[in-house]
Amino acid sequence: MLIYVAGAVPEPAPTLLAGPGREVRICRKEEGPDRTELLENIRDADGVMTLLSCRVDAEAMAAAKKLRVISNYAVGFDNVDVEEATRRGIVVTNTPGVLTDATAELAIALLFAAARRIPESERFLRAGRFRGWGPNLMKGVLITGKTLGLAGAGRIGQAVGARGRALGMNVVYFDEEARPEFERLTGAERVDKAGLLARSDFLSLHLPLTPGTKHFLEYEDLRRMKRDAVVINTSRGPVIDEEGLALALKERVIMSAALDVYEREPEVDPRLLALENVVLAPHIGSATVETRARMAEIAARNLLDVLERRMPMHPVNPQACAGFSGRAATGTV
Ligand code: GLV
Ligand code: GLV
Repeated sequence: MLIYVAGAVPEPAPTLLAGPGREVRICRKEEGPDRTELLENIRDADGVMTLLSCRVDAEAMAAAKKLRVISNYAVGFDNVDVEEATRRGIVVTNTPGVLTDATAELAIALLFAAARRIPESERFLRAGRFRGWGPNLMKGVLITGKTLGLAGAGRIGQAVGARGRALGMNVVYFDEEARPEFERLTGAERVDKAGLLARSDFLSLHLPLTPGTKHFLEYEDLRRMKRDAVVINTSRGPVIDEEGLALALKERVIMSAALDVYEREPEVDPRLLALENVVLAPHIGSATVETRARMAEIAARNLLDVLERRMPMHPVNPQACAGFSGRAATGTV
């Protein structure tokens, strides 16, 4: 059996995947294989582990003659054509849950960074421009008592909401589903999109990328927000119209933004790079030592479960698992 790991996924994945009768081929490049390399290696693979930057579309699946599982090393799976996979009986899996806290922590870190202009302050200081304490120097905005808006209140959105509540913020959320337990724990109030835009002092995005959420926030939406509002995105870049955001930030339609994700990663719109009022991180939401190891373990177990025809822990398309045996003995996961 051939397993292709399309990127430098850390331990324990390589150790777990190794075993009798299995050849594990690993692309050691941090950012994963280029397209040609992917198509070449996926051709004879029974299972592939993919990074979120790895596009697995109909063409890639057509090239793969034996593929039975795409184990995505991420919670988001917009890089995989799940419908096509299901049609071909290929199981797609992801790593939800284990990166919720890490991503929520980054969203809160970005919230602070934007509110208190920390990266901008550091650039200022390092440039030798700090001439002493000033009554107006780097004034930001207070977080306590402000309203935190959440677009999407799934696992990560809720974890951000709980942290906002602990910081003394009021929480409002926009979600297809009412979340009564979340409301009870945090006092969060469910609002429609207009309410979300009008009321948020800090708006944090936690929507999966789907055709329905693409450009959820456009220039016209930003114009409906408060002029001192801050937008935070740790979900997927295309959920915001990046060009519209750059324009809104330049015109000070909103105060600032803090982004971990971009429409065309790893490219970042030069208009954003030119602005002081945006904090920019290189897609590091789940980047903690602990989280990446947990993701590696789950991604490896998901992959092996499918190859051994056991129901994996996190199938994205469980309909492709017909005939699999019941839940696996997956150890400590
Ligand atoms: C990270 O962006 C993920 O989807 O895991
Ligand atoms: C992802 O884990 C989410 O549901 O927010």
